[in-house]
Amino acid sequence: MSSLEVRNIGCLATPLGREARRGKAQGEILRLKNAAVRAEDGRLVFVGTEKDYAREFAGRPADTTLDARGRAVVPGLVDAHTHPVWLGDRAEEIARRLAGVSYATIAAEGGGINATVRATRAGTDAELGAAVRKRLETMRDYGTTTAEAKSGYGLTEKDEIRALALLKELSRDASLPRLVPTLLAAHEIPPEFTGNRGEWVRIVAEEIVPRAAREKLAVFCDAFCEKGVFTVEESRTILEAGRRAGLGIRVHADELARSGGAMLAAELSAASADHLLFIEADEIAALARSGTVAVVLPGTAWWMRSRRAPARALVEAGVPVAVASDANPGTCCTESLVAVAAHACLDSGLSVDETLTGMTLNAASSLGLAGETGSLEAGKAADLLVLDAPDDRHLIYHWGINLVDAVVLGGRVVKGGT
Ligand code: NIG
Ligand code: FE
Repeated sequence: MSSLEVRNIGCLATPLGREARRGKAQGEILRLKNAAVRAEDGRLVFVGTEKDYAREFAGRPADTTLDARGRAVVPGLVDAHTHPVWLGDRAEEIARRLAGVSYATIAAEGGGINATVRATRAGTDAELGAAVRKRLETMRDYGTTTAEAKSGYGLTEKDEIRALALLKELSRDASLPRLVPTLLAAHEIPPEFTGNRGEWVRIVAEEIVPRAAREKLAVFCDAFCEKGVFTVEESRTILEAGRRAGLGIRVHADELARSGGAMLAAELSAASADHLLFIEADEIAALARSGTVAVVLPGTAWWMRSRRAPARALVEAGVPVAVASDANPGTCCTESLVAVAAHACLDSGLSVDETLTGMTLNAASSLGLAGETGSLEAGKAADLLVLDAPDDRHLIYHWGINLVDAVVLGGRVVKGGT
């Protein structure tokens, strides 16, 4: 049995529960002063005050001790929406975007997602593996201990399966974030199918989705349901195929225009509806009824200089809200969920406490992992961060730097700790 303790925690901050928190409860955070935590065999066995810890574990030193030196501890972050499998970069698009050329125009000219598809297909397995590993290490070092990770820059059966197989291989490395793989073969119409989009939809629904599920390479199926990308009917065909194959459903919805994606997500009782910049009251009510987690991606809205998702209205309507990075090469090129979290507060109107729940417990819930991670409670995986800050509010307040001093993932120290 291996054990780890974190002592002298000045402020331990965590949401509580094994399911998503909604409405007022999204903003309820437990804060403990002078706290301690203990993990045995990767699981939390004690979360409480130093005083109680000293009494309960007197004479039972742990194998590893982390001294928080009066600083803050929060749950390991859960990033519910990332696109880490790609090569090349799209820095050349910045100047055009700043000059007012739209994302959709760049995409229609062969840039955008398809530019990354070309670069990704052209890379060797070793090149792609090294690039993805480095991104996952950066995510971890910035505090992400669990990440949903999408394919979507391969867009052939072979290249989509290659992306998912790489994620599976990397998920065996216990020093990297726990990965939840999502098949996003419906990310864009590949160039080979521009005149024949129906055939790509058929191949995704009838061949790639069943294969990814059969080979246990994906947990979720996603589609970019958007004006100019996949229609509601095409998305429905693919997502229903995912459901039939046993995959959960996530939807890129209403990111560029009000396109029907959130309504589709609600109708299918999807695990998550993501982006949601252009939704209105009808979609908010539908999501509240379906129990779908709304994943807001405020870094993307900011970077696109677009409108913001109505995060405040979603919380008030009782929709559980998660905050995620959307880490991708086109619209939000960052591995730092915390960088994005500041925008959730300052642009999208969430409170600091609602945002902490959004990037921990509610994100975990959208991945079906709320019983496993997302809060600091006995029985859950010991996924936690020691911050170089006196309390968790500094994650929003002291912005633009990395406050994560140590990362514990499944009871093992995977960053810092000296
Ligand atoms: O979530 N919306 C689709 N996918 C990404 C953008 C991907 C890209 O531009 O490469 C997003 O914003
Ligand atoms: Fe995305």
